[in-house]
Amino acid sequence: MVDTISHDVLIIGSGLAGLRAAISAAATDRNISIAVISKVQVMRSHSVSAEGGTAAVLYEEEGDNQESHIYDTIKGSDFLADQDVAERLVKSMPYEIYQLDHWGMPWSRRKDGRIAQRKFGGYSFPRATFAQDKVGFYEMQTLYDTCLKYDNIHFYNEWFCTSILRDSSFQGVTAIEIKSGDFMAFKAPAGIICTGGAGRIYSFSTYAFSSTPDGLDMAFRAGLAMKDMEFVQFHPTGIMPSGILITEGARGEGGYLINNKGERFMQKYAPGKMELAPRDVVSRSMIKEINEGRGFKHETGFDCLKLDLTHLGAERIKEVLAGIREIGIKFSGIDIIDEPIEVRPVCHYMMGGIHTNVDGATELPGLWAAGEAACNSTHGANRLGANSTSECIVWGRITGELAAKHAASHKSRAVSLPEQQIAEEEKRIYDGIFRGAGDVNPYEIRKAMTDTMDERAYVFRNEENLAAALKKVRELKGTMWKHVEDKAKEYNTNFINVMEIDSMLRTAEVVLVGALNRRESRGAHARTDYPVRDDVNFLRHTLAYHTPDGPKLAWHPVTFTRYAPVERKY
Ligand code: FUM
Repeated sequence: MVDTISHDVLIIGSGLAGLRAAISAAATDRNISIAVISKVQVMRSHSVSAEGGTAAVLYEEEGDNQESHIYDTIKGSDFLADQDVAERLVKSMPYEIYQLDHWGMPWSRRKDGRIAQRKFGGYSFPRATFAQDKVGFYEMQTLYDTCLKYDNIHFYNEWFCTSILRDSSFQGVTAIEIKSGDFMAFKAPAGIICTGGAGRIYSFSTYAFSSTPDGLDMAFRAGLAMKDMEFVQFHPTGIMPSGILITEGARGEGGYLINNKGERFMQKYAPGKMELAPRDVVSRSMIKEINEGRGFKHETGFDCLKLDLTHLGAERIKEVLAGIREIGIKFSGIDIIDEPIEVRPVCHYMMGGIHTNVDGATELPGLWAAGEAACNSTHGANRLGANSTSECIVWGRITGELAAKHAASHKSRAVSLPEQQIAEEEKRIYDGIFRGAGDVNPYEIRKAMTDTMDERAYVFRNEENLAAALKKVRELKGTMWKHVEDKAKEYNTNFINVMEIDSMLRTAEVVLVGALNRRESRGAHARTDYPVRDDVNFLRHTLAYHTPDGPKLAWHPVTFTRYAPVERKY
C-alpha cells in the first residue's frame, strides 16, 4: 500500500497547455483542488522554448478573416485535419490573445500601439502574434503568474508520473517524487495529460532533452490509442550543429534561404510563397537541394543550407530577433547581423499524439489530453507554424473547464485505488528497470535509437529504410539494457533517464509502424516509394494500440465540414 495524494483534477505537465488548463479548471470551480504534476520546474517546461508566434486572426478590418485561417490550416494539414477542430481553434484564438494580454503578456506592438503580428509559413495573412522571438517564454511567465493567483492550484514540481490508474474511468496516476525517491499514487476523478511531444526520439531535434514521451507512453500502456504518430514535423531551420531552433519568424521578417550557388532556391519549389511555404514543403525542398549537391559542406558531415538575414538590418534584428541572434553567436559563432547562418531541417513537432475528440476527451472517461501530447487532429499531416502554441492555449482552456465540471460532479467517486495496478507498476519500474538485470549501457541504446530515426525516418522515407529502422528499434528494445547504475533513492536522474528511454523505444516503434503502413505521401510523411497522396486508401487517421507484440493498428475517419481535398500548390 503506497501513500496517496488526493485532488479533484490532476494535470500532468506544466507547459502552456498544462498551465492554461490549470487556470481554466481553477476559474471554473473555486471549490475543487487542482494538482499540476511535472517532472521539471514549471519554467523549465519545453514550452518556454517556443519562439516565433501564436496564430490568431486579429485584424479583420485590415483584410484578415477566420475563414482564411481555417482553410490555411486545413490545406497546410494536407487535408488530414479534422475540419471541426480547425474551426474551433481559429474561432477561439482571438479571445485567448486578448486574455493573455489582460494577464500581462508583453506582446510586441505595432507603431499604432496595437498588438503586432508577423508572417509565418502557409498563411494568407500575417497572423503570428509575437513577443520578440521569445513567445513561449513570455506566455509561460504570464500563465504561471496567473496560476499563482489561485489558491486551488497546487504544483508538484519534479515528480515523474509512471502510469495511469484506471477501471472503466480514470482514477489517478502513480508517480515518483524525484527529490525523495518515494513512489506514490495520486487520486482524482479527472485528469489531463499535457506532457508535450516526443521529438527527442530523434538526435537532431529542437526539443529540450526532457521532451520524452513519458505521458504518451503512459496513455499507450493504459490501453489508449496513439493517433497519426507517423507525421513528424521537420522544421526547416535547425542551427548547425546543435539543432536549436532558428524561428520561422526570421523568414517571416524577410529572411532568405540560399544554396551554395547563392540562389533563393524556394523560387523553384513554391514560387507563390517562397521561404514562407509550409514547413513540409520547405524542408523537402532543402533536402532536394542538398541531395542534388547544392548544399554547403559542414564539419559534422551533414550538408546544410544558409539563412540570410543580413539585409534586415541590425536595428530590426535587435528589436525582434534578439533571441536567435544570441543563439547564433553562442552556438554557431555567427552574428546574423553580419553573416548568413547554417541550417538544416530538424525534428521539431509531432502532429500525432494521444487520440482525442474535438473536446480533447480521450477514450477513457475522466481523462483529457491537450497540447502536443494530444492528437485532436488540428494539424493533420502537417502543422502550420504558430498554430501549436494556439492549440495549447485553446485546448488547455477547454479541457480544464471540462475536467473541472467532471470532477465536481464525480466527487463522490472516492473510490479506492486499484491496488493490483499499483503493485504491478511498482514491480515494472523497480524490478524491471531499477534492479533490472541488463548490462548494456542504456544511453548507448538511446543514441543508437535516435541516430536510427535521424538516418531512416527523416524528411524522405521509404519501405527499405523504415523496415530497417523498425528492425533496429526492435533489436534495441530486446537488448538487455534495462538497469540503473546509480542506486541512490534521492534525486536519481539516472533512474528517470532509463524510464524515459523505455518510453522512447516504444514510441519510436509506433512512429515507424505507422510510417511503414501509410503507403502514400501526405504532409510531413514523404515516401519516395509512394510519392503521391492517396485519398482513396489513406485519407484517414492511423490509430495504434499497445499489445505485448508491438502496436496494433486501426483506422479512424477524418471529419469534414466544408472543404474538399485538392492538390496543394504554393
Ligand atoms: O519557428 C518557430 O518559431 C516555431 C514555431 C512553431 O513551431 O509554432
